[in-house]
Parts: sequence; structure tokens; C-alpha cells
Amino acid sequence: MPEIAKVAVLISGRGSNMAALLYAAKAENCPFEVVLVASNDPQAPGLKLAEAEGIDTFAHPHKGLSRNEHDQIMHEVIVTAGADYVALAGYMRILSNEFVRQWQDHMLNIHPSLLPKYKGLDTYQRALDAGDSHAGCSVHLVTPELDDGPVLAQTEVAILPGDTADILADRVLIAEHQLYAPTLAKYVAREADPDWILEQVRTRALALAETHERPSFGTPGWRVGSEKTGKYFAYFSRRHFGETGTSVFVKTSGLDEQSALLDADPDLYFTPKFYGKSGWIAIRLDTGHTDWDHVGDWLEKSWRMVAPKRLTKMMDIAAEF
Ligand code: GRF
Repeated sequence: MPEIAKVAVLISGRGSNMAALLYAAKAENCPFEVVLVASNDPQAPGLKLAEAEGIDTFAHPHKGLSRNEHDQIMHEVIVTAGADYVALAGYMRILSNEFVRQWQDHMLNIHPSLLPKYKGLDTYQRALDAGDSHAGCSVHLVTPELDDGPVLAQTEVAILPGDTADILADRVLIAEHQLYAPTLAKYVAREADPDWILEQVRTRALALAETHERPSFGTPGWRVGSEKTGKYFAYFSRRHFGETGTSVFVKTSGLDEQSALLDADPDLYFTPKFYGKSGWIAIRLDTGHTDWDHVGDWLEKSWRMVAPKRLTKMMDIAAEF
């Protein structure tokens, strides 16, 4: 079973979206839990609510600190809380590129417009001024550009005659509260979806030179070299080969390395039943916090074990540039 994703929520104000996430997380089968609510404003009313609900809170004013310094403090607290994801919910700070990079693909935001329309502030008035029939809200992944990352989900909210920015904001907020939690739930659950996991492995395996995919005992495997003489450097296992869960098998340098890995990180590695004897190691991919760069490195290392010399030489030369 994948673990429940741990989420840190960053707020600057009343924190009603944070509350919506918090209460959604209490429902049975919700794939995430809120482990921390943090703010750049110690007076943010949302902090009191989170505290009363027994959630760890943290606040550090940004005054007098550079953007990087403040973000670094937040980053450390989030990591210490064990969070795998960051959910921005009315966090009124522009984030440093460094912070965004550290949480890339693991940080979501909710914004009160139908993105890409009306990035930034004043979204309701801008929708009214434009004579739009609908306003709305969007949940998106956070990238360095403000309110610009891939949109994961949106809800349209009809504009009524006589709406003011405030009236409209209240109605959009109802939609926000309905949208954020299910979108976050779906997003964190993708890491337990074997099809999504397979696609991640496939992309990385096929990005290596002269590789192709060939099924082996009913599961995808990846080989380097020609169709005829190629050699396997990875197998995907979705309850194949007598295993449970979803994992990828890669080649180690031998039984010594294999047992060192098992000692070092028994939650991540295990010995595959049939392939283990010849020095392969299985890496679990359904823990909910897979480090895909690490998996990519393993695939390359395994590829190197069996790739023809001319190819590994080429890689070495390319790496020097
Ligand atoms: C929400 O409208 C959200 O879309 C925007 O800031 C507001 C935060 O409200 N990013 P709350 O603090 O969640 O109540």
C-alpha cells in the first residue's frame, strides 16, 4: 500500500482553503494528510485554526530577510515536517527560483481565476470589467513564472448581473473549497498508479542511447544494443515475477553491492525472487515519494553494465561537456 502523502500548506491569511484541505484529509481514503501549516505572517488567522486542529504550525516573518533566506527557512521546516508536497493556499509571497526548483512537480497553488486569464491580483474585478460570463478558479503546478504552471483542474463560476468583486469573490471561494482537495488527492495518487509509474520508467529508459523495449514474461523490459543481440538492463514489475507492488529491476555490480543496498535502505530496495541471484536489485516505485532522478541514475548505471563499450565511451565524452 502506498503511504499517505504528507502535505505542508503555506498560508498568509485567513486560511479557508487550508481548512478545506484539512477537513478533506479527515475523510476515509483521502490519500493525503496535512502535516504542517506554515506562514510568513505570525498573525495569519489560519494558524490558530490549524493549531486548534492539532496540526503543527510555523511562522516566520519575511521582514529583513532576502527572498532566498526566507524561502530557505520555510524549506527546512517543510522538510523537517516530513512533507512530500507543498500546497500554497493564499500564500502572498513570490517564491525564489531555488524554492520552486526544490519542490518542482510537488507544489500546487490555487488561484481565483480561469487561468491563463488574470494572473496576479484583482482577478474578480478584471473578470467583471472584461464582461466575462464566467469567473472561476484553477489549481495548478507551481513553476518559476507567477500563476503560470500547468493547470490541473478548474471550476467555472457564473457571473450574475449586479455582481461586485466582493460578491463574486465569495462565490468563487465556495468553488475553490470544492476544487482543491480532490485535485490534490488525484495528483498525489498518480504516484501509486502503475500506468503512470510505467510511463516514468519508460521515458527514462528509452532516453538512453540505443535502447528499445521488449516484453519479458509479460512485462516491459528495456534493452540496449540491436534488436538481435541487445541485452536487458531493466525490467518493470507490476506484481510480476512473484513480487508484490510496483518496482523496477536494475543490475548491480554484483552480490556485494546488492547486499550493501539492502542494508542501507531496506524500504527502497529488495531482492527480486528470480533475478536476485544474478545481482539484480528491485527498486520500489509505489512508496508515494519516488525520487525519479535517482531512478534515472540507476537506469543509466544499469545500462552502462551491459551497453557496448563504444556507447559508454560516447556517454563519457558527452558528460565532459
Ligand atoms: C484565495 O482566493 C486563493 O485563491 C488565493 O488567495 C485566497 C486565499 O484565501 N490564492 P484563504 O486564505 O484560503 O481563505
